[in-house]
Amino acid sequence: MTTPPTGRPGRIRPRRLRQSPAVRRLLAETRVHPAELVLPVFVREGLAEPRPIPSMPGVVQHTRDSLRKAVAEAAGAGLGGVMLFAVPEHRDAVGSAATDPDGILNLAIADAVAEAGDALVVQADLCLDEFTDHGHCGVLDARGRVDNDATLVRYADMALAQAEAGAHLVGLSGMMDGQTGVVRDALDAAGHHDTLVLAYAAKYASAFYGPFRDAVESALEGDRRTYQMDPANRREAAREVLLDVGEGADVVMVKPALAYLDVLADVAASSPVPVSAYQVSGEYAMIEAAAAQGWIDRKRAVVESVLSIRRAGADHVLTYFALELAGWLAEEIR
Ligand code: PBG
Repeated sequence: MTTPPTGRPGRIRPRRLRQSPAVRRLLAETRVHPAELVLPVFVREGLAEPRPIPSMPGVVQHTRDSLRKAVAEAAGAGLGGVMLFAVPEHRDAVGSAATDPDGILNLAIADAVAEAGDALVVQADLCLDEFTDHGHCGVLDARGRVDNDATLVRYADMALAQAEAGAHLVGLSGMMDGQTGVVRDALDAAGHHDTLVLAYAAKYASAFYGPFRDAVESALEGDRRTYQMDPANRREAAREVLLDVGEGADVVMVKPALAYLDVLADVAASSPVPVSAYQVSGEYAMIEAAAAQGWIDRKRAVVESVLSIRRAGADHVLTYFALELAGWLAEEIR
């Protein structure tokens, strides 16, 4: 078994497994399938035309009409789902539009379900930051701090509004303690036993959400470090996942993805429920910006990044590249 002194490699030549596209294709350990991809989409109240998001080239704020088309396209491409985010015309301290049945997010959920509800898992972001005038993910107490338990009451109402609108899955992205259990109980009490709860279990306070703030015209001043996780922490992710699974989460998420593949691998190894990962707006923008400069090969970078997120253990991936990537994957199969 020892390597001969002549400099030859002996019998064992790993390169044999890399010699041709056919051999590499047969032996690839990880694949990406369109059904494992979820497309995040933005809809804005009161728009006449879809509006480009400057820091996310190729991504738009949809009108209700153009959102329906995007959802139909996602279904046609065989994606696993869409994740809906909405920007309301009016914001207030408690995010009233989030629980209004005629609020833009709830209308968009009903539109998406009507358009493609049998073909896709229609998912809705469950968080208050798009709806509050201060931009935080919860309501504030008298001293201006995010009030965890008062926020849970709003989340329960929001979950009900989303389930009533027809959402198949609610995505809890607010990082309040106890949110999964409170939302599960509220859904069950109203008979929504089949509504899935996706817990953004390990969601970090990340600079990579920068372009998203543009996408939802966020009013936030300051940061979310008192509720989202410290990027320094790995062990803490296991605790968050344990809590969410204990409170009844059907799926747990790690977010962002690429800078947190160690956390993702840990969670994938120990989670008893499916694991999701979110390739966030800043990850998208970095690839787009470098590719626009001609500094990286865009298609290869997109494929490699999503493949790596799957390889680290994600069962499915939220990515703004979902539609385009699904197209490339379909070509590859053909
Ligand atoms: C909260 C939410 C955010 C993202 C998804 N859900 C913003 C935040 O936590 O600051 C970010 C997604 C992205 O950057 O692509 N509603």
